[in-house]
Amino acid sequence: MSSQKPLCMMPGPTECSDDVIQMMSTKATSHTDPHFAACFRELLKNLKIVFGTSTGQPFVITGSGTLGWDQTCANLLEQGDDVLLLSTGFFGNGFGDCMKAYGANVDKISAKIGETYDMEKVEAALKSKHYKIVAAIHVDTSSGVVVDVEALCKLIQRISPSTLVVFDSVCAAAAERLYFDRWGVDVVIAASQKALGCPPGVSIVMVSQKALETVNNRKTPIHAYYVSWKRWLPVMIAFEHKKPAYFTTPCVQTIMALNLSVRHLVELGMEEVFKRHKETGDKFVKAIRSIGLVPLAVSDNVRTGAMTAVWLPQGIALPDLLSKMLSRGITISGGLFQGHATEYFRVGHMGVSATDPSLDYVDRTIAALNDSLIEAGYNHKSRL
Ligand SMILES: Cc1ncc(COP(=O)(O)O)c(C=O)c1O
Repeated sequence: MSSQKPLCMMPGPTECSDDVIQMMSTKATSHTDPHFAACFRELLKNLKIVFGTSTGQPFVITGSGTLGWDQTCANLLEQGDDVLLLSTGFFGNGFGDCMKAYGANVDKISAKIGETYDMEKVEAALKSKHYKIVAAIHVDTSSGVVVDVEALCKLIQRISPSTLVVFDSVCAAAAERLYFDRWGVDVVIAASQKALGCPPGVSIVMVSQKALETVNNRKTPIHAYYVSWKRWLPVMIAFEHKKPAYFTTPCVQTIMALNLSVRHLVELGMEEVFKRHKETGDKFVKAIRSIGLVPLAVSDNVRTGAMTAVWLPQGIALPDLLSKMLSRGITISGGLFQGHATEYFRVGHMGVSATDPSLDYVDRTIAALNDSLIEAGYNHKSRL
């Protein structure tokens, strides 16, 4: 076992900065505390900067990333609504299941493993039927494939401008570019525990005014309680004005920790944050390629800088690699694609691991990977 600090290098939850972790153990604090209200206000303001919006409405609610799916579906969907789902992996399929649970008719265009969807098929689908929502996963954490948000938004605006554009950016937020206002996105779903640099516990959804109008114009009531944006909107607006408000008890410490991690991002500047994620991803992939390993993402154009999914070399068993990494103090993940889950592994290199140049987390992960593979019997002429 390494004497160094153990590292969580899976694609979320990720490593956080020390001050963010310390914020999680501050004294019991009321959600009506003026200090908490000030933190919440700062967080709401900075999340708008992270997503490039002045008009979007943030919803910051206690829960995990999946809660963002439920928020979106419960508020925007009514029985029988048509949705076009663009799936690039496990989380795309899960989001589709969530939509069906709220009564949507889901037409799905699926990409092959490691690829993005075919835009010609998307165009044909948009011309064949009016969809209330087109939804895609910005980075599917099962494959590490990033989709072209801007191109999809442009296509939808050209062919079906009233359609709402929804992105699950749980694994992409603060790692991959998304300019909410400029590109015309209607909903972005994120979570605290990935590139936003905080422990799990906060669901974040940014919603356009157009999407909020859709909620107001529903023919049927929202069939949900906890996730109803009508109940949360007054709370968010109150906190935006530094006034505490209550609908349910927020996870006070995690929200204060998230405020700190998001403040660090905004202080660094989002362009710099995106650039450092890209550089870190490139560095990781260069290292694994140098010993003959191959990422799932079929080309660098569709490969995210937030994480990498890597095919296992022949003869190396996933549980063996994971346990050898763990014995070196480093947690990474196995695969998620149905039928292929044991054929590849996934490494997260997002958040502070990418943005803080004083941390050697990615270097340590690369070194541990090299040693673990050698120990597992992998024989390649060059080494990491
Ligand atoms: C792209 C994506 N969407 C949704 C989720 C679900 O988030 P959570 O596990 O926080 O509920 C995840 C989790 O890893 C994810 O990577």
